[in-house]
Order: sequence, then structure tokens, then C-alpha cells
Amino acid sequence: MAPSFASDDALELLFPAELICPDVRQQLPADLHIRPLASSDYHRGQLDVLSVLTVVTDPGESAWVAQFNAMRSAPKTYYPIVIVDKASDRIVGVGCVFIERKFLRGLGSVGHIEDIAVDKNQQGKKLGLRIIQALTYISENSGCYKTILNCSDANIPFYQKCGYQKKENEMAKYA
Ligand code: ACO
Repeated sequence: MAPSFASDDALELLFPAELICPDVRQQLPADLHIRPLASSDYHRGQLDVLSVLTVVTDPGESAWVAQFNAMRSAPKTYYPIVIVDKASDRIVGVGCVFIERKFLRGLGSVGHIEDIAVDKNQQGKKLGLRIIQALTYISENSGCYKTILNCSDANIPFYQKCGYQKKENEMAKYA
């Protein structure tokens, strides 16, 4: 038997569901739902979707939940969201915006968009666009003066379609 879809009220969410953009909710196909990450999403395939993006090591449920709780205990900082297929109660899209507080720009904040991924079978249906719109809404409603992200050259056209522009360069040093 397929697991039944859990409504927001039945879940322990990382941040309030009211912060999800109402227009984005409306624009999603009726068989999909967008919401904050929930403490039980380890069982809904969040790591499977992330593996579309990069190497994912399964830490086990208790370590996953500890990470969820660590993010939740830093209020107004981490905003991971998911798109769920209602029929299967499985996650088909993920993304996160992290709010960085600064001393410059009048104690301004910057939103960093991270870890965007859409299940291979669901790509090309505007889910990536909806995730970016929802994260940008959270960032702007948090008072961020800009929202930024790093991406490959191949993904530049996608982010341009989402209203983002290429600016400066990314530097990285892996440990
Ligand atoms: N090149 C050119 N155009 C693209 C590309 C691309 N690589 N990807 C999407 N688009 C276009 C679409 O054609 C669409 O255009 P349209 O409005 O003219 O029809 C528009 O961008 C919106 O596309 P979506 O359907 O919303 O894209 P999708 O749901 O497939 O999500 C994503 C895009 C997230 C890049 C997905 O392909 C994916 O998960 N890729 C693998 C993981 C990945 O690379 N994630 C991004 C890493 S960067 C980061 O996390 C900050």
C-alpha cells in the first residue's frame, strides 16, 4: 500500500509553512505540494533527490534528525524546502536558502541559495523554477538586500530563466 500524503499540520516542520510563497503554491500542479523540510523527510527520499546533484552519503536516520534539529535551533537562518508528490508521499524536488547576517550595509543580510535538485523524472516541469521562486521570496521577506548562488556553466541559462544574472566568480578550496 502506498504511504498516505501527510499534510503540513501533521508534520514537524523546520520553519513555519506560512513563509512559502502563496503564488508558488498555486502555480504548482495539483498533484504536488511545496512545504518546509519536515523531521520525518528522511523517509520520503530527500537524500535520493539530493543525489541528482552530487555525492550523498546516507548518515542514518538519527544523524539526519540531529542535523535537522541543529538547523532548527538556529532560528531564521536555514530554510530548506521540498516538493512532495502527493500520490506517493515522496520528495521530488529540494532546495535551501541560508540567511547570512552581516555588519555592512546597515547590518544587512544576504540569502545564499544552496542544494537545488529535481528528481530526474520530474525535470523540465518548472519545479526548479518554483523552488527558486519560493527561496527568493523567503530571502526577500527576510530583508536580504541580495540573494546569491554558485552554479556550473551548464546551469547558467536555468538561473537566468529564474531572473538571476551572472556576477563575479566563485572560488573554492576543498579540504
Ligand atoms: N540549460 C538551459 N535551460 C534550462 C536548463 C539548462 N541546464 N535547465 C532548465 N532550463 C530552463 C527550462 O527549459 C525552462 O525554460 P522555459 O521557461 O523556457 O521553459 C526553465 O529553465 C525552468 O526550468 P525548470 O523546468 O524549472 O527546470 P527543472 O525543474 O528541470 O530544474 C535543475 C532545473 C534544478 C537544474 C534540474 O535540472 C536539476 O536538478 N539538475 C541536477 C542538479 C543541479 O544541477 N542542481 C543545481 C545546482 S546549483 C545550486 O544548487 C545552487
